[in-house]
Amino acid sequence: MSENEQAEQPLRVGVVGLGFAGTTHTRSYQQVPGVEVVGLAGLEEERLAEMGEEYRIPHLYAQWEDLLARDDLDVVSVCTPNFLHAPIAIAALQGGRHVLCEKPLARNAAEAQAMVDAATAAGRVLHTAFNHRERGDVQTLKSFVDEGLLGRVYYAKAYWMRRNGIPGLGSWFTSKELAGGGPLIDLGVHALDQALYLMGEPEITSVSATTYAEFGPRGRGMRTVGNKKMQTGNGYEVEDLATAYMRTADGATLLLEASWMVQELRRRLRRDAVRHGGWRGDRRAALRLGGHPARVHGPGGRAGRDAPRVGARSGSPGGRGEVRRSRAERRLGRTHRAGRAEPGAHRRGLLRVGTRGAGGGRHARRVR
Ligand SMILES: NC(=O)c1ccc[n+]([C@@H]2O[C@H](COP(=O)([O-])OP(=O)(O)OC[C@H]3O[C@@H](n4cnc5c(N)ncnc54)[C@H](O)[C@@H]3O)[C@@H](O)[C@H]2O)c1
Repeated sequence: MSENEQAEQPLRVGVVGLGFAGTTHTRSYQQVPGVEVVGLAGLEEERLAEMGEEYRIPHLYAQWEDLLARDDLDVVSVCTPNFLHAPIAIAALQGGRHVLCEKPLARNAAEAQAMVDAATAAGRVLHTAFNHRERGDVQTLKSFVDEGLLGRVYYAKAYWMRRNGIPGLGSWFTSKELAGGGPLIDLGVHALDQALYLMGEPEITSVSATTYAEFGPRGRGMRTVGNKKMQTGNGYEVEDLATAYMRTADGATLLLEASWMVQELRRRLRRDAVRHGGWRGDRRAALRLGGHPARVHGPGGRAGRDAPRVGARSGSPGGRGEVRRSRAERRLGRTHRAGRAEPGAHRRGLLRVGTRGAGGGRHARRVR
């Protein structure tokens, strides 16, 4: 087949996984011209049939090995629990397919290196689905950084602090063996990726980190709604909070926080603060109470759903702080179009990238 004829053929994709990730990949491929999802694999029989019908996918399999046995796939999407990322990706690469693998790339560095080696040996593309870096707000911020509007970025903080959203106890997410870790590997990788991307992928020269498992082992802070994850029958084996302090080769500092569960005490703080002389209306105060990590949001914060936030930060006490994504997008978009810097960008070099939220306030109050 000539190169021209090859270019006219649709890219033929196989997707492994039927959960949120698998569904998102499948739906997204359908929107890309010149791409055809020809096969799908996953263990949930009903969901497999449902997706096959909804997305008109002709070949359906329970096991990923049967999908990969096809000889007509150009690309494989890996949307399975983390312990299967390396085996599926390596098998696909060795079979000459390109691979789009969900984050985290792997459970550890050795697995990730084996995947990269397989891609290099096969001359195929291995890409990690770090979708958050593709967001409009992050892309706009990146253009600000590239244009020098923030000057040298020498300090950044990246976080995804879910206040009440541990994926179901005993699911693969809370298994050390199947997931490789907790919120750090699940959410923290997104925040870290965004920060490193915005900082120009600097080399990290030192890391000091801590992890805690305060709520999970006690069965608290579990996300119950919509949790149909593969069960292991084991308990809670991973951290529920991770923090890290990193230095880069070019002298910058990067802080990282990732949590599935931190205490929500907003109502009580406000009530007690008023009783003790007044509520100052601070946007946010971080406390540690009773040995448990607690993050308390003032009136400017909010309980409830995941709220990805990105913003260049003014850094001044009582300043505007970070902004919600939708506002940030609008404002960043506006200032971008107008060719002006974000208000507060005179405080150069400070970057804050993160997400905070998740879990209903109702349950957050209940865990107290
Ligand atoms: N990039 C993002 O924003 C994002 C969002 C959600 C999840 N993820 C990642 O995607 C991956 C999957 O997450 P999820 O929430 O969709 O998980 P999930 O548990 O809902 O789905 C996992 C799927 O893998 C399938 N599977 C397991 N073993 C299999 C086998 N042997 N053969 C074929 N299929 C098999 C299961 O049947 C299931 O359909 C994880 O690595 C997660 O970190 C990324």
